[in-house]
Amino acid sequence: MLLNSEGHSPARGRGSAARAALLGLMLLGGSLISGRPAQAARAAPPALLLGTAWYPEQWPESRWPKDLALMQAAHIRVVRVGEFAWSTFEPRQGEYHFGWLERAIAAAARHHIFVVIGTPTAAPPAWLTSRYPQTLRVHADGRRAQHGNRQQFSFSSPRYRKFCRDIAARLAQHFGHNPDVIGWQIDNEMGPPSFDAETRRQFHAWLRRKYHTIAALNRHWTTAYWSQTYDHFSQVPMRAQGENPGLLLDFKRFVSATWSSYVENQVRAIRRHAAPRQFITTNTTHWGDQFDQYAISRELTLAAWDDYVPDGHFHWLENAVQDDLVRGYKRRDFWVMETQPAFVDWAPVNAALPPYRMPELAWQDVGHGANAVLYWQWRSALNGQEQYHGTLVGPDGEPVPAYRVVQAIGAQFALAGPALAGTAPRSRVALLQSYASRWAIDFQRQTVRFGVVREFTAFYKPLERFAQSVDVISPRAPLGRYRLVVAPALNVLSRAEAHHLAAYVRAGGHLVLGPRSGMKDPYDALWAERQPGPLVPLLGGHVGEYYSLLKPVPLIGRLGSGHASVWAETLVPQAPDTRVLMRYGKSNGWLNGTPAIITRRVGKGSITYIGAWLDPPLMSTVLDELARAANVHPLIARVARNVEVCERLGDGKRVWILINHGRKPHSVRLPAPASPLLSGGPARRTIKLAPHEVSVLLAPLT
Ligand code: GLA
Repeated sequence: MLLNSEGHSPARGRGSAARAALLGLMLLGGSLISGRPAQAARAAPPALLLGTAWYPEQWPESRWPKDLALMQAAHIRVVRVGEFAWSTFEPRQGEYHFGWLERAIAAAARHHIFVVIGTPTAAPPAWLTSRYPQTLRVHADGRRAQHGNRQQFSFSSPRYRKFCRDIAARLAQHFGHNPDVIGWQIDNEMGPPSFDAETRRQFHAWLRRKYHTIAALNRHWTTAYWSQTYDHFSQVPMRAQGENPGLLLDFKRFVSATWSSYVENQVRAIRRHAAPRQFITTNTTHWGDQFDQYAISRELTLAAWDDYVPDGHFHWLENAVQDDLVRGYKRRDFWVMETQPAFVDWAPVNAALPPYRMPELAWQDVGHGANAVLYWQWRSALNGQEQYHGTLVGPDGEPVPAYRVVQAIGAQFALAGPALAGTAPRSRVALLQSYASRWAIDFQRQTVRFGVVREFTAFYKPLERFAQSVDVISPRAPLGRYRLVVAPALNVLSRAEAHHLAAYVRAGGHLVLGPRSGMKDPYDALWAERQPGPLVPLLGGHVGEYYSLLKPVPLIGRLGSGHASVWAETLVPQAPDTRVLMRYGKSNGWLNGTPAIITRRVGKGSITYIGAWLDPPLMSTVLDELARAANVHPLIARVARNVEVCERLGDGKRVWILINHGRKPHSVRLPAPASPLLSGGPARRTIKLAPHEVSVLLAPLT
């Protein structure tokens, strides 16, 4: 079976029962092709969608039926179309051609396939950029982009935005009530800012709106330093690095505001004409921090991301955290708008994800709240920059090996999808992720080893293993439902955020702050009261000093022993009831014997400060202990380390998704009998998972 372990042939893997099951799935696929009534696509889309990126404009129409029949046979129920097709939609200014897309959508519907339309604005046509060269992006070094490739536009250009508005509105007028169009994707993987004169003018206007007077800006940025004092907003340089930290943080916020209004411009144009049932999203990148994703997401119905494993090595916890991150953008279900059929074409070595990893990846996305997984792309254009990328069919239009794997995943989606309708993960543990903090640390890492994402993931891994469900959210999100809230490095902390966190603790919540927390105010200036800034009174203690580490430093205390690496802060308890949980051992002379973790009870809640980057086993011991103390329990106890447990609840249902990411078989003892949806059969308490096997179970709500 293609979902099998270690690349073995079916006969050496899960055995004949699994093969029979797969055969059943394949046969089901076959019956779907022939048996469905033509109007099926007009029904509500399935709760769980398998899809692909399809570029019909690159192929003769006579080919479409074959492509769509192959898609249907693979259980593909959604295609994303239209992105990058501007020169086909509007070959000459004001001359629109939408008939081809209308026919493509109708053809897809005949195969029960729904459609998401991408606005084509990531790739302006040549007539636009040559007639209006001021719409082209300017790089940080002052060079203007040339036409070609994509993303060559300036995100702030009023003229470019007018063109974007027009094309989005015209598409929405045409397709906004098409029953087979279920949603819209704005642009594609937005990111690079522009450094042109118009952007600079807008940056200055943004600063003026924020600070009102140049004196206020001078004060917050401490511009007396290096004689940076400004007389006018127009004197402020526009740089993305190597500048005053206050300026850099504001530039990032300005970029976020500019991308938000860029998105809003198209959202408004679409909303004016489109049916409310059509969602609007955009596809974002891995850990993308070019702008504040929470800000952009406010303009959208759904969040979506592109889940790639470029080197082919799937580290399940490192991918899971990104699913949780994206779920947190809107604190609801999301889409995986792109993922790879085996391999990509943009890594140093584009190694293929093994076939048995592809279902693991897809089901992990679903387990963490995705309701659609789309493979990029269906078929390579015969020419163009991405000829080597993984696809589902080859240049001859015939399936490549990844097609069969995706087909098997599609069969599983068809089987388990109905049970997942109306369900979503519900976590009792939250990790706080703040763009301002990420940016601020990145501007001044102090040690190159302090990778913010790496540190965040170091906290996430043990928490996810222990609780089996973790939300990743903004520090401003409501916290009432969480038993434990952990902020791995909340470097920039406003008074409002500190009040929000303090209120959570006073209401009985358990808050854990990681190193570098509460160091900066919202202007990226140092809090004068030391770390954690406005939370010092609640903690009853503060950071004495911070040190970048070259060598690991021993740690010892009531939570066990281990080492700190990368970063260590000495902590100073002040309140009589602030307790020391761990101390540094003998090390660089500054740290010897000083507190590394302190904690204080506040009513039924608590606040804990971890001043060091802990080694993985110690991080796990400390966080498990804090989670237990906060009354957090695993969803399913005593599962093997490589078995991932996901739970989706809602609509009166509980669905468990168990994924064996390991090379050995494992058994999972469930808290209650549950019905296996992929293999069928009666409800059971014990589930045996072959290596790399996925099991989806419908359990009682109890
Ligand atoms: C990105 C883009 C796609 C395509 C893929 C290739 O995610 O959105 O258009 O270039 O990368 O992996």
